[in-house]
Amino acid sequence: MSNTATLEVNGQKHELPLVTGTENEVAIDVKALRGATGGVITIDPGYKNTGSCESGITFLDGEKGILRYRGYSIEDLAEKACFLEVAYLLIFGELPTKEQLDKFYADIKAKSVVDDDVRKIVDAFPKTAHPMGVLSSLTSALTAFNPSSVNVDSEEAMYNSVVKIMGKFPVLVAWTMRKQQGLPLDYGDSNLDYVENVLKMMFKKPNEEYVQNDIIVRALNKLLILHADHEQNCSTSTVRIVGSSHAGLFASLSAGISALWGPLHGGANQAVLEMLEAIKEDGGDTKKYMAKAKDKSDPFRLMGFGHRVYKNFDPRARIIKKAADEVLGDLGVEDPILDIAKGLEQEALTDDYFVQRKLYPNVDFYSGIIYRAMGIPVDMFTVMFALGRLPGWIAQWREMRLRKEPIGRPRQLYIGENLRPFKDIENR
Ligand code: CMC
Repeated sequence: MSNTATLEVNGQKHELPLVTGTENEVAIDVKALRGATGGVITIDPGYKNTGSCESGITFLDGEKGILRYRGYSIEDLAEKACFLEVAYLLIFGELPTKEQLDKFYADIKAKSVVDDDVRKIVDAFPKTAHPMGVLSSLTSALTAFNPSSVNVDSEEAMYNSVVKIMGKFPVLVAWTMRKQQGLPLDYGDSNLDYVENVLKMMFKKPNEEYVQNDIIVRALNKLLILHADHEQNCSTSTVRIVGSSHAGLFASLSAGISALWGPLHGGANQAVLEMLEAIKEDGGDTKKYMAKAKDKSDPFRLMGFGHRVYKNFDPRARIIKKAADEVLGDLGVEDPILDIAKGLEQEALTDDYFVQRKLYPNVDFYSGIIYRAMGIPVDMFTVMFALGRLPGWIAQWREMRLRKEPIGRPRQLYIGENLRPFKDIENR
């Protein structure tokens, strides 16, 4: 195969280099295009065909339904690893040895105390505030309490920021839920493992001893691993682009959390559950909602279906569907919306509209059913997604800084008014 692409603009030919990734994906390098053509740019709203960076973290083949972190299949990781090992893998590139993992966790625990003044910020929010808004604000506020995390030029300074946020973020996650429920803001227990500690911080009642449920611990481990990274999605691209201005890690993450909140992205897990509930309340008529999803004059979309890059099964959805059956079975929970979800999936998989557009269930279709069975409130679902995505965002931010990527600054094609004379206010 030739290693250039030829582009003809206004009768003049330009040779553009082709670059090939380790999985043989090919990209046309347009870095020199504007200079060579005297100002011509490429345009691609939504970046459907545009690679924003080279990355060695996550490989995804949407046609074949493949997802790998640092070369390891998502199926293997979800089955065999714990969340903290996966976090280490994503951030530092290799699975940790026992010593590396112990040190990583010890460093995280050493930095996990959140300044007590942050409680005052939590107190100032109304109980009705959406936890994603609270989480994004608190993450941003951490910068004020840790000013040294803003300018990170050495790997050591970067490491310190990484362990700080890995330690403090679960505390913030728990506090957003406890605030909503009127429970005292508490710290966890350093003797527990990372995921056990998250659950204890969320669910411990002030007047009862907390008892860990291994089924729930295993289920959360799996869900967090499945959400841990997904290459250049909306929130990750946001983290990279904010970080590219050398805004600190916490500010970049806060922006990523806001991006994740939207119902077309991480907010879909909440939207799916609300949709399934609405279908149940409406008598469980899945056909009616299938028709609404296909009706172009109706804004309704089948939440949890479709994906920008997966045009085949989302491999995470397969694992989560199986986990939903297992977790609900193990916990002895019977939830009628699981049947509604399965019914909708079955109909969609054989429906021309969905088949032609290659719309399959995505990671969010079944995750909410598991979260609900675990006792997590619906508006905390996207917060749980953020907790899982944290190591991925950190890894992508760190990679961007270590590769010394330039500030992200897309161009545009201007389609507004041409130069016109200013009109005085009385003449407008
Ligand atoms: N229900 C009904 N029709 C759909 C859906 C859906 N969920 N998703 C896509 N379509 C249709 C869409 O109307 C369009 O039809 P047409 O070609 O006739 O105009 C076609 O399929 C292509 O859709 P698109 O919106 O151009 O595709 P996109 O790549 O821009 O959007 C998406 C991807 C995920 C935003 C979209 O599929 C969607 O809105 N899904 C529902 C929300 C959701 O579940 N989001 C979670 C994504 S996975 C978790 C994460 O990583 O954030």
